[in-house]
Amino acid sequence: MSLKRVAVVTGSNKGIGLAIVRGLCKDFQGDVVLTARDEGRGRAAVQVLEKEGFSPKFHLLDISDHQSIVKLRDFLKETYQGLDVLVNNAAILYNEDSTLPFPDQARETIKVNYYNNLDVCEVLFPLLRPHARVCNMSSLANAIAFKVLSPELRTKFLNPQITMPEVSSLMTQFVDAAQENKHEEQGFFLSRVSSYGISKIGLTLMSAIQQRDFDAQGAVDIVVNSCSPGYVNTDMTQGKGPLTVEEGAVTPLYLCLLPPDVSGPRGLFIREKAIYDWTTT
Ligand SMILES: NC(=O)c1ccc[n+]([C@@H]2O[C@H](COP(=O)([O-])OP(=O)(O)OC[C@H]3O[C@@H](n4cnc5c(N)ncnc54)[C@H](OP(=O)(O)O)[C@@H]3O)[C@@H](O)[C@H]2O)c1
Repeated sequence: MSLKRVAVVTGSNKGIGLAIVRGLCKDFQGDVVLTARDEGRGRAAVQVLEKEGFSPKFHLLDISDHQSIVKLRDFLKETYQGLDVLVNNAAILYNEDSTLPFPDQARETIKVNYYNNLDVCEVLFPLLRPHARVCNMSSLANAIAFKVLSPELRTKFLNPQITMPEVSSLMTQFVDAAQENKHEEQGFFLSRVSSYGISKIGLTLMSAIQQRDFDAQGAVDIVVNSCSPGYVNTDMTQGKGPLTVEEGAVTPLYLCLLPPDVSGPRGLFIREKAIYDWTTT
C-alpha cells in the first residue's frame, strides 16, 4: 500500500499562502493542509476553497508557539507517516505607519520571520520523505537590506560555508544592536522597516544551508529553495502590490512541484521561476 502524499502551507488563511493552497489543490497529487494560527480564520479559508470545489484539510499552526508546531508534526506523523511538500509562508511586516518602536519591531520581525520559521523546519524536517520539496518564502527585500550593510557584514553573510549558528548569531547581533540603537554603528544601515529585509536574508541563507545539509546527509532528492513571490496585493503590502495572489503563487508553486530527481534549482533564491542572485542587485 502506498502512503498518501501531503503538502503543508504555513500562514495560509489568506494572501499568497491561500493562493498556494489553491494551486496545490489543483496540481499536487495528495492532501493539502491549510494551516492558520486562528481556527476561525483558517476554517473560513477552507470554506472559501470548498465552495470552489477543492478539499483542503485544516490544521492549527502558530509558528510562534513551539507546541503548536509539535502538534502539527504529530498529526502528520500519525495520519501520513511523512511530509512531501512544506511551504514556509507565514511572516510579518511592520509597515511605515506602525507605532511600535524600532527595537521591538526588530526583535519581533527576526523572531517570527527567521527563528520561528527555523523552528518549523527543525521540527518538521525529520518527516520529509525522499523527493520532498521545501519552499521558504523570502523577498527581494533581502537584496535591498543587503545593499545597505557594511562591507564587513556583507563578507560574513556571503561566506559560502556559513553555518546556521553563524546566521542565527548575525540575526541576534542585529536584534541586540537595535535594542541600544547601535545597529548602524555595527553596520546595519537600515531604514525603519528593513528588519524585514534582514529577516529575509536569514531565511534565504537558511534555505541554502538546509540544502547543503540534506546533500551532505545523503538525503534522496530533497530540494529546498527560497523565493520572491513578486510585489503582491495582500494585507502585508496594504494592497499596494500590482500582482494578484495567484500571480504571487506562481513561483512558490513551481518550486513545490519540481519533478522528481530534478537537477536544480537546489538551495537557491528564485524569482519569476528563475535563479536570481540577490546579492548583486
Ligand atoms: N505580498 C508581497 O508583496 C510579498 C513580497 C515578498 C515576499 N512576501 C512573502 O510572502 C509571504 C506571504 O505574504 P502575504 O503578502 O500573503 O502576507 P499576508 O497577507 O500578511 O499573510 C501572512 C500570513 O502569515 C500568517 N502569520 C503571521 N504570523 C504567523 C504566525 N506566528 N503563525 C502562523 N501564521 C502566521 C498570517 O496569519 P493571520 O491572518 O493570523 O495574521 C497570514 O495568514 C510572506 O512570507 C511574505 O514575507 C510577500
